[in-house]
Amino acid sequence: MLTRAALKLAILAQSALLARAVSGSAELDACPGYKAKNVSTLGPKLTAELVLAGQPCNVYGTDIEKLALEVTYESSSRIHVEITDPSDARYEVPESVLPRPHANILLSPHTAAIRLNYTTSPFSFSIYRASTHEVLFSTGSHPIVFEPQYLRVKTDLPANANIYGLGEHTDSFRLPTHNYTRTLWSRDAYGVPQGTNLYGNHPIYFEHRTSGTHGVFLLNSNGMDIKINDTEGVGTTIEYNVIGGVLDFYFLAGSETDPTVVARQYAEVVGAPAEVPYWSFGLHQCRFGYQNFIDVANVITNYSAASIPLETMWTDIDYMYKRRIFTVDPDYFPLNRMREIVDYLHAHNQHFVLMTDPAVAYLPGEGYGPFDRGTAADVWLKAANGSSPFLGAVWPGVTVFPDWFNSRTQGYWNNEFAMFYSPESGLDIDGAWIDMNEPSSFCNYPCSDPFEQAREQDLPPARSTLPPDPATPIFGQTTLQKRVDHSHDDVQNPPYHIANFAGSGALSDKTAYTDAIHANGLIEYDTHNLYGTMMSTATHNAMLARRPGQRTLVITRSTFAGAGTRVGKWLGDNFSQWDHLRQSISGILGMAGVFHVPMVGADICGYAENTTETLCARWALVGAFYPFMRNHNADTSISQEFYRWPTVAEAARNALDIRYRLIDYLYTAFHTAHADGTPVLNPLWYKFPKDANTFGIDTQFFFGDAILVSPVLEENTTSVRVYYPDEAFYDFHSLTRTHVKGGGFVELTDVNLTSIPVAIKGGAVLPVRQKGAMTTAELRKTDFEIVVAPALDGTASGSLYLDDGISIVPKTSTIVSFAFSHQKLTVTGTFGHPTDVDVARVRLLGVQVAPRAVNINGKAINKSAVSYDSSKGVLDVTLKTPFNRGFTIQYQ
Ligand SMILES: *[C@@H]1O[C@H](CO)[C@@H](O)[C@H](O)[C@H]1NC(C)=O
Ligand SMILES: *[C@@H]1O[C@H](CO)[C@@H](O)[C@H](O)[C@H]1NC(C)=O
Ligand SMILES: *[C@@H]1O[C@H](CO)[C@@H](O)[C@H](O)[C@H]1NC(C)=O
Ligand SMILES: *[C@@H]1O[C@H](CO)[C@@H](O)[C@H](O)[C@H]1NC(C)=O
Ligand SMILES: *[C@@H]1O[C@H](CO)[C@@H](O)[C@H](O)[C@H]1NC(C)=O
Ligand SMILES: *[C@@H]1O[C@H](CO)[C@@H](O)[C@H](O)[C@H]1NC(C)=O
Ligand SMILES: *[C@@H]1O[C@H](CO)[C@@H](O)[C@H](O)[C@H]1NC(C)=O
Ligand SMILES: *[C@@H]1O[C@H](CO)[C@@H](O)[C@H](O)[C@H]1NC(C)=O
Ligand SMILES: *[C@@H]1O[C@H](CO)[C@@H](O)[C@H](O)[C@H]1NC(C)=O
Repeated sequence: MLTRAALKLAILAQSALLARAVSGSAELDACPGYKAKNVSTLGPKLTAELVLAGQPCNVYGTDIEKLALEVTYESSSRIHVEITDPSDARYEVPESVLPRPHANILLSPHTAAIRLNYTTSPFSFSIYRASTHEVLFSTGSHPIVFEPQYLRVKTDLPANANIYGLGEHTDSFRLPTHNYTRTLWSRDAYGVPQGTNLYGNHPIYFEHRTSGTHGVFLLNSNGMDIKINDTEGVGTTIEYNVIGGVLDFYFLAGSETDPTVVARQYAEVVGAPAEVPYWSFGLHQCRFGYQNFIDVANVITNYSAASIPLETMWTDIDYMYKRRIFTVDPDYFPLNRMREIVDYLHAHNQHFVLMTDPAVAYLPGEGYGPFDRGTAADVWLKAANGSSPFLGAVWPGVTVFPDWFNSRTQGYWNNEFAMFYSPESGLDIDGAWIDMNEPSSFCNYPCSDPFEQAREQDLPPARSTLPPDPATPIFGQTTLQKRVDHSHDDVQNPPYHIANFAGSGALSDKTAYTDAIHANGLIEYDTHNLYGTMMSTATHNAMLARRPGQRTLVITRSTFAGAGTRVGKWLGDNFSQWDHLRQSISGILGMAGVFHVPMVGADICGYAENTTETLCARWALVGAFYPFMRNHNADTSISQEFYRWPTVAEAARNALDIRYRLIDYLYTAFHTAHADGTPVLNPLWYKFPKDANTFGIDTQFFFGDAILVSPVLEENTTSVRVYYPDEAFYDFHSLTRTHVKGGGFVELTDVNLTSIPVAIKGGAVLPVRQKGAMTTAELRKTDFEIVVAPALDGTASGSLYLDDGISIVPKTSTIVSFAFSHQKLTVTGTFGHPTDVDVARVRLLGVQVAPRAVNINGKAINKSAVSYDSSKGVLDVTLKTPFNRGFTIQYQ
């Protein structure tokens, strides 16, 4: 959601940043650090006292004299290192927001894949890989600094290290290693500028070397700058500069051979992603600026008329009365007409989603139920004095904010959802969209008079059109935390200034004040980065309460580590620019490949500014491979529904046809991700970890683990230079095989505006639907075909998971395994879920010579069921067998 003055303010912020004096790394390296005393080891645990080793350097406060170190080998692949102040209850991320991982009692560190080494005087620690003795993390000559409002840890890494993660950002997927700062502080980041703090906070990185991949997670929700820098001849360093909390590191061993192992290990810490409803993989259409219910209805009609499958229609804040949540505008979006739209969608197996913001209009005595009920239940975030609600200025004007730490807030939120989104009397939404939950406030710091600022900023903005005739026909007649003592801290203006890009750069600018106080005594200074994730949990719970037992689709803007266990996210307010199309790939790879928020997508065709026909066509093609596929734009932009231009409509139909045929494959990937944290999307290096050419590639990616997407991302061109690693690849359409020996770049030409290069990686067996459909409900009635794409070694494998598509605990399910070797496909599984569809045919790719015979279940098959195309090397076997049992197919 755009903030109108955002651009101007962003420019102001930049100059403010430059003016700040920051202590250099050299100065910090001169700090005394600590000595380790009374080191004690007991089984998997090591504890020590850390005592300041010299004259305090007091860079951003007073060095704390004594710290406690606790190291735990939590499993054979995970070491937990915690450094705290034993004399003071410092803030730690509450267990209620991120439950700590289950720790196995590993009796001896000597069996662990990574181990901790330390020196006592001065104290330093390193983590090394046991098998190779390679050092993965080392505080070496960089003393730890621990002050009330400043923590610093710095590690040495190899030169030009391959570092991924530390989101949310719009920078390259492989992070820059030169003079680079990643700031984590939730921000309403209109235009998602590179190099700045954005909406979400995921303090995890994976580091990849040809010798292995490991991960480092700093469990801390305070504001921080993470600096990555290189010194010639020395190497890369990562320096954490954190303004509160404790040092709480999880080191993940990963693996020497398979990069996805570290992703699974990270899922053990923050939780594996939620499964989402089958329907949510269909196409979503939204925009800010639909003027009234007729617009919304016409979009639905126009998609259908253009034969572009539309699964879910969305409506932005336009539907609200004066932009107040849980209301509809009686003149523009009358409830009865909106209910007619929802009923229409449901009758056509389509779905409906509405936006809900956290901020509630502050309207004492005006009879606004959501405000009155929240006030009666006393659920608002409080100003620093703890007695009155904290006030900001958001879309409806002056607002309060729900306090997700208050034990009564969930009940309040459930009740508001149950009432407003009631199937009987309200709007029966199928998913929830939650925005502005950094939390965003338009009030410029200092926000001493939110009423005045709301007036100045015309909040809520007036409507620009007249209300329609309400009778216009549509559809063409068809618990308490430990207290943290911040009394000596400056929480508005801490001595270390993180590089917050919001407004003037003050921590409280454009958001809830850092001294705003929660029901459990915590303050926003510590918990700011959790607000969006906590709203996500509350909304997930409220949706679950409306439809018990059913999976939810909640799409949020702000996230913290672990958010993916409950919600998906979109990448915020991008622009209709080619750069932003390109950056979206690193964005989805970060969320789905590293942070475990795989239900992710960017606004297709771009949110703000005006898209163009060619950009929108290319973006429709790429967007079909976002796990969450939604076209959405801003109120001042031109309309960009896919049917608006013939080329875009054709591109969308083509892309959606591929996507829909692969939805069961995507659904299976989500099921696997939910089970064990296996990534839903993969950068090329996850699959080719020894091939250094792949490490920096973020313009191509694997959708699931075997579909290589290599889009055209530049304007005015129909060619694209793509990388094919050393493996067989099969074009998704022609099914012909390509193999670039040793791996290499290839120029693909004549990629017109309605097509996208998609290839199947050798080694995969894919269950695909024979054709696309206009809804996912219809798709589920379509037959399968099994595509066997052998690797260079002649083998392939795959799987398929099916269930009712909606239940959290489905009554029936089907799990199929596909294995191919020695020219024989073996299909086995448990077929509990009735599908009523057939396996129409099996397509065997890369078959070099015409087969002499083909057997099914060991018996020779009738010649008429077999066809072989020698030019493509494709052997098709027609089966038309009910997909309710296993079988084998072999050719000679
Ligand atoms: C040393 O540490 C142990 C526990 O690890 C503790 O019980 C003991 O009191 C400590 N000794 C001193 C002198 O601090
Ligand atoms: C661990 O520390 C000791 C003492 O500093 C050093 O000799 C040894 O090489 C270190 N081991 C590794 C694997 O770094
Ligand atoms: C590092 O980046 C900052 C901020 O972008 C810039 O002002 C500074 O000049 C850069 N320094 C070096 C040494 O490149
Ligand atoms: C990177 O190092 C250079 C040279 O020491 C320094 O000027 C710059 O500020 C550093 N940048 C960051 C982000 O630490
Ligand atoms: C729907 O299509 C009709 C006919 O092309 C067009 O006049 C109308 O503007 C479109 N409306 C919307 C909301 O797409
Ligand atoms: C508490 O602080 C708020 C915001 O600063 C102020 O409006 C309110 O009057 C204060 N209440 C009391 C009782 O001091
Ligand atoms: C987008 O197009 C509309 C309609 O032509 C125009 O009013 C608006 O200024 C354009 N916006 C931008 C950012 O160019
Ligand atoms: C693409 O072509 C258009 C029209 O000629 C031109 O305005 C635009 O600058 C070109 N874009 C690039 C990236 O060359
Ligand atoms: C675009 O390319 C595809 C694939 O080569 C081809 O099937 C299609 O006919 C082309 N479309 C146009 C309009 O040339």
